[in-house]
Order: sequence, then structure tokens, then C-alpha cells
Amino acid sequence: MEFELLKTDPASKARAGKITTDHGVIETPIFMPVGTVASVKGVHQTELKQEINPDIILGNTYHLYLRPKTEILKKAGGLHKFMNWDRNILTDSGGYQVYSLSGRRKIKEEGVKFKSHIDGSYHVFTPENVMEIQREIGADIIMAFDECTPYPCDYNYAKRSMHMTHRWLDRCIKHFTETPPLYGYDQTLFPIVQGSTYKDLRRQSAEYIASRNAEGNAIGGLSVGEPAEEMYAMTEVVTEILPEEKPRYLMGVGTPINILENIALGIDMFDCVMPTRNARNGMLFTAHGTINIKNKKWADDFSPIDDMGITFVDTQYSKAYVRHLFTVNEMLGKQIATIHNLGFYLWLVREARKHILAGDFRAWKDMMVKQMDKRL
Ligand code: GUN
Repeated sequence: MEFELLKTDPASKARAGKITTDHGVIETPIFMPVGTVASVKGVHQTELKQEINPDIILGNTYHLYLRPKTEILKKAGGLHKFMNWDRNILTDSGGYQVYSLSGRRKIKEEGVKFKSHIDGSYHVFTPENVMEIQREIGADIIMAFDECTPYPCDYNYAKRSMHMTHRWLDRCIKHFTETPPLYGYDQTLFPIVQGSTYKDLRRQSAEYIASRNAEGNAIGGLSVGEPAEEMYAMTEVVTEILPEEKPRYLMGVGTPINILENIALGIDMFDCVMPTRNARNGMLFTAHGTINIKNKKWADDFSPIDDMGITFVDTQYSKAYVRHLFTVNEMLGKQIATIHNLGFYLWLVREARKHILAGDFRAWKDMMVKQMDKRL
């Protein structure tokens, strides 16, 4: 994997760059649509490419390991072939999903024992087997096995957990280095900074992660319920330390405003279920604010759902029609809303990139943040 830093904004820490892997180029800043179980929910791969056009999507180790199971993915020749996606894929390690199973998992130094949310069966994730599973899934970028601490988190717990995440990282690196890729293209491992909402721990963690010299670095443990200001403060501390010449990935973030603010702090990569999950609940993100399409006020509004939108659904369907689809629970409504939201998120990061390259990102970002902070 290669990363080329093309430009840094003069009035913020925003960057425009270019990642190149064996599955092609990823222009940064990038938003990665989430395809947890080998599908971006409700969107055909053709629509995803033609309308939304992301250079990379995300999959989840925890879910893919349980179903269809890695054995099937191996037989298929890896996740790219299985799901008919020839661009980049990143897989999260399960370090987040497993911790969301509170009450159904036990964390020890060796690894995490957890109970499947599907059939209640017991499984164990260790740094070593998570590397093997991600080799078998075959994503281009794979994530280290970490503990995502909850918010709020007691200082001593956060500190102990961070050190364990660091020890797990070393086990991940060792095992990753010892196991070859299976499908004829390279994979790269990103470590994850933890440290909850404590600046000193975040600094320590960022220094440790930077010292491992990976090709890219991630920040975890944010967007777990803390106020946005605390999230930005942590991002700021960490991006001061992580190397400039490597991409920085902020995991699980966030709203369109969170994304622009974190780009301004030097983040290059994002993923979040928000555009897809909220779409299925009728929430549409636009450059002028968010729309709850289920609201009665749209019942006879025949204007397009987003006349500035980049996808076909934005101009071909009216708000009244999409509201009707939600009212009668037609799955087409959720599909339209999902395509719209992902199109909007990808438009937003591409615009950010354009403004970084043009040198006027800061002013554009401030204007957009104000404009998007509305409920329509
Ligand atoms: N997704 C969102 N936050 C996290 C995190 O802290 N760790 C991992 N592995 N995934 C995440």
C-alpha cells in the first residue's frame, strides 16, 4: 500500500491524499460505506459503483466469521469475489462488535470469549485468530484486534485496557507477518489508538501506535456516546502525534458535521452505519440539514428529495412519494433513502477534497457546518 499526501489546508490540518493498493486508488478524505455482512444493506453493487462510487467499502470480521463463515469465503476465493466487488475492502477486527455484546463476553489477556448473537454458541477471538480470519476474508486493509472502551470509562480501566490493546497489537503484528496473504494481492494491517477520553492516555497510545510503523493508523474508542467536543479534543491530541505521511482512519464516525470537523483535524478515512441505518429509519441527510421523511409535512410535497443530490434517486423521486413508501413500509423507500444518504456522504468528502486542493477548505467547512445543522 502507498500513501501520497497531495496537499494540506493552510487554515486547518485537513489533507488531501491518495492511497494505492492492489485493488486501486482511494482518494482521501474518504467515507467508507459499511457492508457488514458482505452487502451494503439494500444497495446493488452496480448502483453502489455507478451512483455512489466509493473507492472502498467496509466489512465486519465478527459477522462474516459467524455467517457465511470463513470456510465459505475461502472456497469463494475471498470476500471480493464472493460479493462481486473488485475495489478496495477494509475489515474491522471484531474489537468493536464483540464489546457491544456486553453481558455476552469475557475479556482476558489471551483474548475474548463471546456468545454468538445468532445461536448463542461460544467462540473465542484472539489477536492471532483474528489475523487468520482477516487473511481468509481477504480485505485490502485489516484492523488490529483491540478493546473499544465504553463511555464514560474509569481512568484506571481505560489505562489497563489501552496497555492490553498495545500488547494485543504486538501479537497481531507478529502473527500477521508470519502468515502470508491467500489470494495473490497484498493486505495491510492498521493498528488502533485507544485511551478513552483522557488526553495523557491518548498521547501515550498514539506514541505507541506510531512507533509500530504501520502503513496507516486508526483511532478507536470514539463516537461511543461522548460529547462531540470531547471527540474533537481527542482527535486533535492524536493527530498531533500520528505520522503525517500515513493515512489516519477515525473509526465509527459520524454525522456529516463530525466528518467535516474531523477532516479539519487531519483525519483521512471514516466509516459509520449512520447514513445507511438512519436511511432505513427515514432520516435523509442533505447539504441544508436533515429531513425526517416520515413527517406528515412531506405528504403533499412533490419536490425532488434533494435537487442538489448526485444520485438518480435524488431527482427522480419526490418527498411525497418516498414518505408514502415509508408509511406503507415498502422496502423501496429504504433503498431510495440509503442510496441518497450514501451519495450525499460521498459527495461531502469529495467536495471537502476539492476545497482542500483549492486551498479554501476552512471557510467552506465553516459554512457547511452551519448550513447542515438544521432539521428541515
Ligand atoms: N469501530 C468504532 N470504534 C471502534 C474501535 O474502537 N475499535 C474497533 N475495532 N472498531 C471500531
